[in-house]
Amino acid sequence: MSRITLSVIKADVGGYVGHATMHPDLVDKANKKLSAARKKGLLVDFYVASCGDDLELIMTHKKGTDSKEIHGLAWDTFTACTEVAKKLKLYGAGQDLLKDAFSGNIKGLGPGVTEMEFNERKSEPIIIFMADKTSPGAWNLPLYKMFADPFNTAGLVIDPAMHEGFVFEVLDIKKHKKIALSCPEEMYDLLMFIGAVDRFMIKAVYRKDGEIGATASTQKLSLVAGRYVGKDDPVLIVRCQSGLPAVGEALEPFAFAHLVEGWMRGSHQGPLMPVAFHDANPSRFDGPPRVIAAGFQLCNGKLEGPVDLFDDPSFDEARRKANEIAYYMRAHGPFEPHRLGLETLEYTTMPQLMKKFEKKFKPE
Ligand code: 13P
Ligand code: 13P
Ligand code: MG
Ligand code: MG
Repeated sequence: MSRITLSVIKADVGGYVGHATMHPDLVDKANKKLSAARKKGLLVDFYVASCGDDLELIMTHKKGTDSKEIHGLAWDTFTACTEVAKKLKLYGAGQDLLKDAFSGNIKGLGPGVTEMEFNERKSEPIIIFMADKTSPGAWNLPLYKMFADPFNTAGLVIDPAMHEGFVFEVLDIKKHKKIALSCPEEMYDLLMFIGAVDRFMIKAVYRKDGEIGATASTQKLSLVAGRYVGKDDPVLIVRCQSGLPAVGEALEPFAFAHLVEGWMRGSHQGPLMPVAFHDANPSRFDGPPRVIAAGFQLCNGKLEGPVDLFDDPSFDEARRKANEIAYYMRAHGPFEPHRLGLETLEYTTMPQLMKKFEKKFKPE
């Protein structure tokens, strides 16, 4: 058995039209760049996907996580795609490339990253979830259900290999600290933290023998840039079966279109709608937020797939419900809780407004 690393690195380098979807020329360019890297032996395999206006580079390789070469390849690819986007005058060309130069690791430069290194099992089913018009905290609820909720995941009860439960690694993105909480023992403590999706984010989930089950991107652009620059449309990798959630157990949480932040200008709450790849073009009020699920069987690092896992009529009801919730939320217009609370907007438009009206505020 040899170690393999799966890296998913994504960026919005230009939207078509507005923030709705992906121009095919960007996907072509990314395919060319990654194909050359595979030929050179840097990548074992790759797949270029898109969700809404986000370009998603799915790569397998032997370089481990945080590899300068792999992050550099992603940066070069996004830079090259930005050139194409600029020529086409796509919207927000280079939006997520917040820094001018690559300095060894792509984290903190704008793109979203999630990676895991593991021994490929006898059979290695993997799902890569990609979302648009939302933010990393959106994975907290589904990850909790997949790995800790026996009403979602039957295996927690009936599969001896899962019965011990899982360990959740949670980041406090404001204090830059992390904590490991074990389920089912610390389930209530875990929920206290991860229910605050804007601050505490599940970064990874491990089996108690240390085997990794899931990793999520947790980058927040506004914390990098100090202002609103687009939302941090996140990605999530989940390994499935044989002591980990079955594929169907990993997909099941998305049958409930929970409310997430990130709709319209990154400033509104809306339902996360699970859709087929061809429906990941959020247009109504730039949304509602979307999630796609790409299933792969890894075969010696080769990505067999993808299978478009939400392209299934059994998710029609979730989509219908999401539309109903979308109407209900939209009816609130500029009022909370459709519009995000001030604490979240603090990183976006609120500071400028406060400054503008500073002198107009009089003692009451
Ligand atoms: P495993 O074979 O991974 O134990 O899963 C059983 C199954 O098929 C669940 O639906
Ligand atoms: P993105 O974060 O997907 O670019 O969307 C930004 C936006 O403002 C949508 O209304
Ligand atoms: Mg965009
Ligand atoms: Mg986007």
